[in-house]
Amino acid sequence: MIPKHVAIIMDGNGRWAKDKGLPREYGHQNGVNSVKSIVEEAYKSGIQYLTLYAFSIENWDRPSDEINILMSLLVSTLRDEFDEIFDNDIKLNAIGEIKSLPKELVSELDFIINKTRKNTKMTLTLALSYGGKQEIFNAIKIISNKVKNNLIELNNFDDSIINSHLYTKNLPDVDLLIRTSGEMRISNFLIWQSAYSEFYSTSVLWPDFDEVEIKKALSSYSNRHRRYGTI
Ligand code: FPP
Repeated sequence: MIPKHVAIIMDGNGRWAKDKGLPREYGHQNGVNSVKSIVEEAYKSGIQYLTLYAFSIENWDRPSDEINILMSLLVSTLRDEFDEIFDNDIKLNAIGEIKSLPKELVSELDFIINKTRKNTKMTLTLALSYGGKQEIFNAIKIISNKVKNNLIELNNFDDSIINSHLYTKNLPDVDLLIRTSGEMRISNFLIWQSAYSEFYSTSVLWPDFDEVEIKKALSSYSNRHRRYGTI
């Protein structure tokens, strides 16, 4: 079975570059090539939702040079890939504290999100300045205000109220969560939405994660028995 929603923690760009005696930025540049191949392969495989952890809220603590490189790479990749995204009927989406990103990136995102809003083949979501705890905290703040103003009744409170106040309100829960580079952590990524997702970790570093590697992840998923806590 093909998972409907695949989310990926793209990790190991820095180590990939270090192993080759190169500056970290080379890892990020080569990471972009993996992004392109994985988007293409996900699309070909019929995955409907692909969510990529491109910049966490904690990543703001990195040296400013590295942040600037990542932001420029995001802007240039979005610009270069717009036609490909649009022509392949892919809808672009962004989750996180988008307003805290550089203006140039926000306007590039706004442009593509608006142009591709009617596309239906696959939704590609970029998590940018994203933190799962922050997302839940924001939702709680909005919901509390609505409860205070009698817009939501506590008696009617259920999962769907939380879901509809998250950045991911238009996305289904995650079926398969992939992390590269061998780490076994969630790192504040889609913590609510991954409650019952299948986890796949590989020691392959993100710039080396290609079509063959995602096929391995999909094949592992197809052999899992999802029980959602039942027997
Ligand atoms: C993790 O490697 C990777 C990131 C923090 C950034 C991922 C970003 C890209 C691949 C670039 C552009 C993305 C898109 C969607 C166009 P790391 O730096 O944490 O590596 P390390 O753990 O080995 O240091």
